[in-house]
Amino acid sequence: MLAFAARTAVRPPGLLKPRALMKTVSRFKAHQDSLPRLPVPPLQQSLDHYLKALQPIVSQEEWAQTKQLVEEFQTSGGVGERLQKGLECRAKKSENWLSEWWLKTAYLQYRQPVVIYSNPGLLLPKQDFVDLQGQLRFAAKLIEGVLDFKVMIDNETLPVEHLGGKPLCMNQYYQILSSCRVPGPKQDSVVNFGRDKKPPTHITVVHNYQFFELEVYHSDGSPLTTDQIFVQLEKIWNSSLQTNKEPVGILTSNHRNSWAKAFNTLTKDKVNRDSVRRIQQSIFMVCLDAPMPRVSDHTYRSHVAGQMLHGGGGHLNSGNRWFDKTLQFIVAEDGSCGLVYEHAAAEGPPIITLVDHVMEFTKKPGQVQSGMVPLPMPKKLRFNITPEIKSDIEKAKQNLSIMIQDLDITTLVFPHFGKDFPKSQKLSPDSFIQMALQLAYYRIYGQACATYESASLRMFHLGRTDTIRSASMDSLAFVRAMDDAGTTEQQKVDLLRKAIQSHRAYTDRAIHGEAFDRHLLGLKLQAIEDLVSMPDIFMDTSYAIAMHFNLSTSQVPSKTDCVMFFGPVVPDGYGVCYNPRESHINFSVSAYNSCAETSAQRLAQHLEQALLDMRVLLQHHLQAKL
Ligand code: COA
Repeated sequence: MLAFAARTAVRPPGLLKPRALMKTVSRFKAHQDSLPRLPVPPLQQSLDHYLKALQPIVSQEEWAQTKQLVEEFQTSGGVGERLQKGLECRAKKSENWLSEWWLKTAYLQYRQPVVIYSNPGLLLPKQDFVDLQGQLRFAAKLIEGVLDFKVMIDNETLPVEHLGGKPLCMNQYYQILSSCRVPGPKQDSVVNFGRDKKPPTHITVVHNYQFFELEVYHSDGSPLTTDQIFVQLEKIWNSSLQTNKEPVGILTSNHRNSWAKAFNTLTKDKVNRDSVRRIQQSIFMVCLDAPMPRVSDHTYRSHVAGQMLHGGGGHLNSGNRWFDKTLQFIVAEDGSCGLVYEHAAAEGPPIITLVDHVMEFTKKPGQVQSGMVPLPMPKKLRFNITPEIKSDIEKAKQNLSIMIQDLDITTLVFPHFGKDFPKSQKLSPDSFIQMALQLAYYRIYGQACATYESASLRMFHLGRTDTIRSASMDSLAFVRAMDDAGTTEQQKVDLLRKAIQSHRAYTDRAIHGEAFDRHLLGLKLQAIEDLVSMPDIFMDTSYAIAMHFNLSTSQVPSKTDCVMFFGPVVPDGYGVCYNPRESHINFSVSAYNSCAETSAQRLAQHLEQALLDMRVLLQHHLQAKL
């Protein structure tokens, strides 16, 4: 599915002359083919790094036990060596030894609901419209902006991105439009229609739980203008004023096994099957949301973040979604807007690049139209709701309501500094923020925890992510010292700088394919594939602790002043996402209310304090030196 060579170009007819197209296609393909293949790191290197990463988070006894298991695992001619050879062989035979395994393990075989547990949400700046006209006009401009970005995907002319001076794999951009996740009984799949002989030319628009197919290209292949889209959106709005419709979309929020069963029931009916198909095929989806309950300015952002992530429940906008759809923009009448996306197709950065383009596009003045061609009414996608389907919808509503009650989410705009301060100190801003998170966590819990930070593997062909483990012995030494009266300021500064450098060094290893997490996962999956009994290192307490990420974090930077968010990955953990801007930082923090020990607000407050304290420490030290 991910093989680039097998891809047929995606384009609405008439956009480029065939000769010009052939040139860009070959340039793009040449770029993809020129990317290095993901290496399999040396076995001993990964195991050494694994043992090192365990030190701050397991007891001495647990560590000693694991060290012994690791030694047994890597004995000459032992199981580790055999699995490593298997992996190396897989790497020789495939375009990327990890990508397919990762897609299945991290996403398609994951059975928890995609809502909160997997789909990230994004909160965009509040727009200044306050009525229906404004809502539809903004939505129309946004749709035109996505189509404008799509031209670069269709023509394969997207500028190649770089990280650390190296070109990146651009494949994820080709997965985010015209695609959808489909539930299956044990494993889901992702369908992508962008490469069909006749790629889709419609989007889905949903209003009051009613879905519409909106053609966004004319028969000559040119896209509809903002004014034309606006008129079509008005037609949709006016023909979906009833508010008593069954929220069929809410089915997609359920546990994957339950949704797979309900999907079978739903799609037995041909009308339903065709409607689902048109949603799946559509280029993307736009949700025209009902007004959200009014909240104070203070809590507005956190409240809307929840709305973007889950829609607010069966009585609000959760039925105004198809959570399996890869890309859904949300525009509400009060100016709130954002998106939610299905994660199997891509990481945050390609989504953000698209969003940045769209938000810039929405600021451009619209073209003046010379007369409007009458356009056909957008097609309503009908659903026949049997008592069995109604009962599935009720169950999904109840489950979602419990999940929403459980989600504790907060956003924080840290106004005091952004990337500028760490840069002025010749420190990596990302590592600085990660150390602030370590300090915040330690101040609450008095210990370090397994911490996950996403690192891009896109330097490699079809690369996705690996893990930066931000908790290290160096970070632990710093956080312990920070509030210790017996440690001098100079010692604290030295420990902070060392911790940051050690995190930055880990980041460099990770983005160059030398982190150990995906390697260990590969060895484990190789054992399953070879039908050998599971090696003891994967059955060990330390391994369970290492994989229990109480802090699951990610940096998603953007040109737009926005922030992404996602749920924690363990019941007693936090999900933290941040967008470091030049002079402020946008954070989101999530936790679960059912865990008495966690509180998103508390961690956010400690994080703010930690950032401020670290700045004071470095500034005092600077003054002392002068
Ligand atoms: N002194 C001065 N400036 C420094 C510095 C130093 N010691 N170290 C870094 N900087 C600068 C960089 O040059 C960069 O400058 P810019 O703002 O002009 O671009 C900036 O600080 C940011 O660098 P840094 O904070 O170190 O982070 P990064 O941009 O290298 O990103 C990761 C680090 C881990 C986030 C990135 O490598 C990555 O993998 N991103 C993808 C994550 C992902 O996929 N997330 C989504 C999951 S859904």
